[in-house]
Amino acid sequence: MPVTCVFGAQWGDEGKGKVVDYLADGADYVVRYQGGANAGHTIRVGDESFALRLTPSGVLRGSIGVIANGVVIDPRVLLEEMELVAARGIRPEDSLRISDRAHLVLPFHPPLDRALDAARSDAWRVGTTGRGVSTAIADKHSYDGFRVIDLMSERMRAERLPYLLERGNERLRTAGAEPLDLTATLAEIESWVPRLRPMVCDTVALLHRAREEDRTVLLEGAQASLLDVDFGTYPFTTSSNTGVAGVASGTGLPARAVDRVLAVAKAYTTRVGRGPFPTEEKGEVGRRLQEYGCEFGTVTGRPRRCGWFDAVGVRHVCRLNGVDGIALTKIDVLSGIDPLRICVAYQVDGRVIEDFPADPDVLGRCEPIYQDVPGFMESLTDARSVDDLPERARAYVAALEQQVGARVEILSVGPERTETVAMGAPGA
Ligand code: IMP
Repeated sequence: MPVTCVFGAQWGDEGKGKVVDYLADGADYVVRYQGGANAGHTIRVGDESFALRLTPSGVLRGSIGVIANGVVIDPRVLLEEMELVAARGIRPEDSLRISDRAHLVLPFHPPLDRALDAARSDAWRVGTTGRGVSTAIADKHSYDGFRVIDLMSERMRAERLPYLLERGNERLRTAGAEPLDLTATLAEIESWVPRLRPMVCDTVALLHRAREEDRTVLLEGAQASLLDVDFGTYPFTTSSNTGVAGVASGTGLPARAVDRVLAVAKAYTTRVGRGPFPTEEKGEVGRRLQEYGCEFGTVTGRPRRCGWFDAVGVRHVCRLNGVDGIALTKIDVLSGIDPLRICVAYQVDGRVIEDFPADPDVLGRCEPIYQDVPGFMESLTDARSVDDLPERARAYVAALEQQVGARVEILSVGPERTETVAMGAPGA
């Protein structure tokens, strides 16, 4: 399929990095289209592990990485990543394209993000990763954003930037945070210009041309659908449209350009930061998932909250995104747990509901209704085909498929790219 969109179907950290890396083999372009450096994709290449926050991981596999207009770019992070990529002998000038229309995260945005979240009452603190993404997106929508194309313009740097930075400092002071040294900040921003310029281009035209030439394009969603600002657990969400909804506005490709939609879901559920999580397990099972699944944040190092697979949430996501198939990750982590539980509906205020509620208070009160499935004891790490999977693992996958209404096309049984089972065509 020429244009594939891959995105997270839960609350993030589903293992999109590995799935994108698996699919990126042979992709001409790998494109980030929303979010910013709040993402953290870890991929393993041989003995090395890479955590990339802005750069599409496909650049390490020979694809052209595109940071499209919907991403808010923190040049500090990007320049660091460019060095990391260059250290592997890959020239960013050849392998990376940055949209001229993308907005920037300016140096006051990350501390402002953190100060605003710290000022929220305990009950309403979002638990932002503090990368300046939400404040940069808010500025974009209130006409005070500063784009890559503006950064490349001497006139814009001279006329708009000092005002934006002064205003940023005022907001930092109001939020109780330290203002920035404006002279040093302006000098730093000036130093970004020649380093970024070789990668800047009109990525809308680039992607349309790619499509006309039938190139393979992989659209890499960051964060996840249950963190979507419109359809997630607002206000405990991120600040962008994370699924297919973000593609058209975030790349300039028409919505109908997406040929295949692949949702990445973990075989259980995790969540970083605040917000309702009906299937959360605070006892032994939760600790075990956290330990065996190495569930600690890539960006913040925070332990992730863990629990059973929530088919109500993933079903909601599959509907929203018109999902063609699922890449199910980390099923190996479940071996040795018996029984396995799948949440198929919620019980709340004396009612049974099967749809994902909009109100975070209602979701917070939801009690999961579980379907129990016998667990498997075997290690799955060596499985490379469906035939290698124990009967009970296949039954668990089939139960998930039935509940979410989509087929599992890819099963990940370990962190390495090779530790993957292609589940075959429907009916195979
Ligand atoms: P922000 O997008 O950094 O402002 O964070 C808002 C919420 O989304 C917080 O609960 C974060 O923990 C969560 N979040 C943001 N990015 C990611 C991600 O890539 N993975 C998992 N959670 C994320």
